[in-house]
Amino acid sequence: MSKTKTELQAEIRRLAREKNAVIMAHYYVSGDIQDIADFIGDSLALAQQAARTDADIIVLCGVHFMGETAAILCPDKKVLVPDVNATCSLAESCPADEFARFVAEHPDHTVISYVNTTAATKAVTDVVVTSSNARQIVESLPEDTPIIFGPDQNLGAYINSITGRKMLLWNGACHVHARFSVEKIIALKAEHPQAKVLVHPECEGPVVKLADKVGSTAALLKFAIADESTVFIVATESGILHEMQKSCPQKTFIPAPPDDSTCACNECEYMKMVTMEKLYRCLRDEQPVVTVDKDVAAKAIKPIERMLEISARLGL
Ligand code: 13P
Ligand code: SF4
Repeated sequence: MSKTKTELQAEIRRLAREKNAVIMAHYYVSGDIQDIADFIGDSLALAQQAARTDADIIVLCGVHFMGETAAILCPDKKVLVPDVNATCSLAESCPADEFARFVAEHPDHTVISYVNTTAATKAVTDVVVTSSNARQIVESLPEDTPIIFGPDQNLGAYINSITGRKMLLWNGACHVHARFSVEKIIALKAEHPQAKVLVHPECEGPVVKLADKVGSTAALLKFAIADESTVFIVATESGILHEMQKSCPQKTFIPAPPDDSTCACNECEYMKMVTMEKLYRCLRDEQPVVTVDKDVAAKAIKPIERMLEISARLGL
């Protein structure tokens, strides 16, 4: 007989306690998973938390590259993901062999990769960034440094626009963030003229132009908490609305509509593959385990650690 949600929650907490496991969740997974996690955060916070945890097991409720990053940072720990097939369209848009060829064609360039990449792509990277620290890490390099930025062309173009750099961009994108409709956001804004527009930099340029605040999921959440406005239009994956609404119950958060209103396109189907039932089974059976090839991990850890070092130095 299948367990009720309350039974699953109790079993998950019991197993986590008994096995000294820490449950980490990204803001895009469903609200019930966020609520049962020990730690929720954006991509940077999850990597930082993985690097410092003393748990024996890390359960990463998010997409596969997040589990890989934790596994690379914690080779002595068991890193589990509830669904090993929860991939990321942005990471998939940058196959490591093609990216390595692009890098080889520009041997004088410093290679910056967004954390939304496979371990193999990180292995041909000089420094990893997330949307929380991309601007500061780019600016930490001398102004005349030639840079390759991959895989997200929208984030890369945004960083170019605010820093004046001319980074060479890989042409990848996230299918969720690329789908927001400028017209529909303008129409929503006309309905709610007092609303502030919050936009993730993975969105396309015309959507970013409508923003009152551009930032990572954590930065958008922080802004929504601190800002005096009471209505916000949110252009990023809709999972973040759960924590926004929990943190600010008196405020209104409106998910920005995708261009195709026949689908829930502002939901990442990969993030939503993480369910309570899968989390329970993954903790119970201690699988699927995230494994990264040793040689790949030995190369990929360098740009990840470089990101963590620069972020720590800059207080990010
Ligand atoms: P952040 O967690 O850096 O906001 O990035 C969002 C994302 O796309 C994670 O998949
Ligand atoms: Fe990848 Fe986009 Fe899903 Fe984030 S929202 S995990 S970038 S597909």
